[in-house]
Amino acid sequence: MNPIKYFFEQSKYALNDFNQRIDSKGRGYIKDSLRKAEIAKLSPDDSLVFEFQNKGKLIEIDDRNIQSYMISEFPQVIYPNWLYDLVNYGEPIVISQFIKPLDSQKALSGLRNRITNLSAQFYEKAEKGKMHTIDLEQAIADARSIEDSIVRGVEKLYSMSMYLKLSQENVSKLLKSDKALKDLSYAKQIKLHQLVYKQKQGLETFLPNVTDAVGEEFYLTSSNVSSSLPFTTATLNDPDGIFYGITLGGEKIRFDRFSKASKNYNGIIFATSGAGKSFSAKLEAYRSLFRGINVYVIDPEGEFKTLCDYVGGTNIDINPESKTKVNPLQFFSSDTDTKEVMRTHLGVVKGLLKIWLSEDAYNRGIVSKAVNETYASKGILLDDPSTYSKKPPTISDLIKVFEKQGEEGKRIAVELLEYSHKGEMGDLYDNPSTDDVNFNSPMVVFNIQKVPDQEKQASIFYLSNFIWQKVLSNRNRKVLIIDEAHLLLKDESSANFMENLVRRGRKYNLGVISISQDVDDFLKSPQGSVIAKNADTALILAQKKQSIPSLVKAFDLSDVERDYITRLTKGQALFIKGNTHSHMFVYATPHERKLFSSNAEDLAKIDEQRKNEQ
Ligand SMILES: Nc1ncnc2c1ncn2[C@@H]1O[C@H](COP(=O)(O)OP(=O)(O)OP(=O)(O)O)[C@@H](O)[C@H]1O
Ligand SMILES: [Mg+2]
Repeated sequence: MNPIKYFFEQSKYALNDFNQRIDSKGRGYIKDSLRKAEIAKLSPDDSLVFEFQNKGKLIEIDDRNIQSYMISEFPQVIYPNWLYDLVNYGEPIVISQFIKPLDSQKALSGLRNRITNLSAQFYEKAEKGKMHTIDLEQAIADARSIEDSIVRGVEKLYSMSMYLKLSQENVSKLLKSDKALKDLSYAKQIKLHQLVYKQKQGLETFLPNVTDAVGEEFYLTSSNVSSSLPFTTATLNDPDGIFYGITLGGEKIRFDRFSKASKNYNGIIFATSGAGKSFSAKLEAYRSLFRGINVYVIDPEGEFKTLCDYVGGTNIDINPESKTKVNPLQFFSSDTDTKEVMRTHLGVVKGLLKIWLSEDAYNRGIVSKAVNETYASKGILLDDPSTYSKKPPTISDLIKVFEKQGEEGKRIAVELLEYSHKGEMGDLYDNPSTDDVNFNSPMVVFNIQKVPDQEKQASIFYLSNFIWQKVLSNRNRKVLIIDEAHLLLKDESSANFMENLVRRGRKYNLGVISISQDVDDFLKSPQGSVIAKNADTALILAQKKQSIPSLVKAFDLSDVERDYITRLTKGQALFIKGNTHSHMFVYATPHERKLFSSNAEDLAKIDEQRKNEQ
């Protein structure tokens, strides 16, 4: 038969009968094919007319060999996204599904008949003394449980049929694809039936006229049907949340970091370089600001500056040349300070010394004594919170106290000179904080891009401590974004500090978002592993191959998810919030894309635009 005529008739039917059901894009598509078919009819064009041959096992259209299948048995257990492997099976495959709601009353009477039949079979076997009735018992139990959930209104019953179509340019390729498809479906416990001598009907099920010409139906409950839609992924659509992206099926992902259901407010972002870690964190930061959430950032690459300037935040430049100075020994006091806060602060100062001093010189007892004495020399006493707001000591003050602690103290003092104005790092560390270091704007970014690399770890450490002190002073909702967070995990004291920060943040409405490209380093550290596993959200973007096994283990990922994360491209992610795992794309508007970009040209454009607006 003339295939054009065939398709034309089908399309016309589709257009008349299903006009309302198809969106405008679909309608345009059908109109377009109708128009082409009309043209072809009037003046047959070689490129449009092709031979349509039904060869029983396959159909040949033009030079393509097409083979259709129906699914004749679903896997025994239908789990969410079980179709994923079939959809992502490397060969060109088309899947067609027909889903029809069934009237509950009719469904129930059908089910009850089935239960009666099965029960009769069971009793007959039992009477004859046959032992092997497990299959029957299982079928009765299944039918009863479906009946139960329909009666309670928890589930509805649907009929579903499903067909697959393979298409290849020659028969040998088609046979190869056929074998691969059959192997895969066997492994997934899906029974496929090739539509022998029903190829034409098979082909019809793929036309846009919604005709199930084969009619091999199954009855499934709503939850099984929803698990059987390709591209379905768990969605997260919290109306109180920020819009984060879209699932592969096109649904919105909105999540509220501070929702009551969250076990804590922390998150981690893992990905290889350039996969979109900072981009995603900026997107969350920007959209969180609109919801009145304060944002603090420790920014080792100077990537948040443009966004911070754009939203009118405070960008604090920390580097030896900067006019802004931050004293790492500073204590930011508030009315609510307790001894515990000061103890943590003194612990951080001692931890910093551990990072700075050589192993030989470091002496825990002397360090502890000297730090306490240095603060006491400025009138700041652990036992008296009213003294906490006094002017804090500087590194030079600390060195003077070490010099009085015998030979070992002197040795420490000598090593510390490097961090004072007598050494190279004095401009960075040995200064009272300047007045422009304030936390009063909704977004505060500590830009440590120009801090020498070997000092980045210490800088992230004392800056997180400042932010922690600030966090304790109020219960507003806030997030702290720590980029390159694995640096904090390199040292015992900073790692413990970070774990503590993450653990205690919830009480103070703080969410800590730790970003790292060194997944293995992060997860290998005992504190890092606790931080990652307990975070309420995890955004896993494109990964290096070698990081995959540790991620699979840490987040208990399924085979499907492991497969998915090996193939991610920029912006695509597996997003885990609580128990929900969503396959998504972190979606930004074109304007936001420029704003969050790390590309110098985009950033220059945004800066220029801002200047013009001022
Ligand atoms: N979801 C996305 N949508 C659009 N573009 C994106 C997305 N994610 C990332 N990009 C693009 O990729 C670039 C690199 O992303 P990003 O700066 O976030 O990488 P990164 O993971 O932080 O890398 P690094 O480890 O080098 O800091 C961005 O400048 C942006 O242009
Ligand atoms: Mg980055």
